[in-house]
Amino acid sequence: MIKKRMLMIVLGLLLITGCSSSNEPANELKAEAKTETAAAKTKQKQKSLPNVKILATGGTIAGADKSKTSTTNYRAGAVGVDALIEAVPEMQDIANISGEQIANIGSQNMTNETLLKLSKRANELLASDDVDGIVVTHGTDTLEETAYFLNLVIKSDKPIVVVGSMRPSTAIGADGPSNLYNAVKVAASKEAKGKGTLVVLNDRIASARYVTKTNTTTPDTFKSEEMGNIGVIAEDIYIFNEITKKHTKETDFDISKIDKLPQVDIIYGYQSDGRYLFDAAQKAGAKGIVFAGSGNGSISDAAKKGAIAAVEKGMAVVRSSRTKNGVVTPSQELEKKKLLASNSLNPEKSRILLMLALTKTNDPAKIQKYFNEY
Ligand code: DGL
Repeated sequence: MIKKRMLMIVLGLLLITGCSSSNEPANELKAEAKTETAAAKTKQKQKSLPNVKILATGGTIAGADKSKTSTTNYRAGAVGVDALIEAVPEMQDIANISGEQIANIGSQNMTNETLLKLSKRANELLASDDVDGIVVTHGTDTLEETAYFLNLVIKSDKPIVVVGSMRPSTAIGADGPSNLYNAVKVAASKEAKGKGTLVVLNDRIASARYVTKTNTTTPDTFKSEEMGNIGVIAEDIYIFNEITKKHTKETDFDISKIDKLPQVDIIYGYQSDGRYLFDAAQKAGAKGIVFAGSGNGSISDAAKKGAIAAVEKGMAVVRSSRTKNGVVTPSQELEKKKLLASNSLNPEKSRILLMLALTKTNDPAKIQKYFNEY
């Protein structure tokens, strides 16, 4: 009985192995065909998807810490561009992604040199048929300055999107991956074409001209307070505002041959400020000064003496406002002294525009025109 059962088992095993070995070539062929179709499909998909290049510069979006609860004490710029891309594989479904590391720093350490390097590389890439859009990853602290600089010097209609995050990649509820995914979505979209440099964080699309950081730590820190955002991302892209200020291809600025930007400093206005601040800037080599005045760009009598002396020495002085919102209107009295008004640019963006303006002219009237147009 036992012998009979053993025989049955052995026969059964032989049958199973026999069956499988006789079907092997057919199965292999099927598997090969499947792989080939999948590869063809991927190729086809890759062809039809836009090519988005990520230029990484560091910041919290590339920040890391040992603790998952650490959202303020972490190292910014700790993770490279490849790790950023690997962390969000879903991006590959909406674009062909590749990356380049331009820098890996906290954006408080962004310099004019790195700004020029980034912008020149972005222009070079956007001029190529192989690139349909660019995403720049950046620390949030000075993100608006870089974004506005790109808005003035990029010579392409193709989308360029600057993105950051407020929580490091290792934190609970890190906002980097979703911000990056959204930024790629916008950079790969038709809707973003011809809109100048855009800033994407917290599901919002903002123009580099208007957006500013308003809060030290919260994820909803970027606001375009006076003008509103230009759109939102709710899976799809919804654009609801137009940009009226000149940008990208429409500007006068060509950085292709510029290796050094003129020094422009910002002086903050306050009670009991004085002329010595302007004298110090001039001694340190400034070619222009932005005065972050109180209210509507007000300047104290003491500081005004410094500002007028600076203009007489050939420097450009632009009044902006420390309130960060609203228009700094021209003042007849100050205009006569050739003190310019920033229009609605905040002090840090006024510095960016004044540096570029000074690469073209020292004429106060022409510089004022730039401030009114850009
Ligand atoms: N200091 C920082 C930076 O701007 C970290 C802040 C951030 O990216 O949110 O790189």
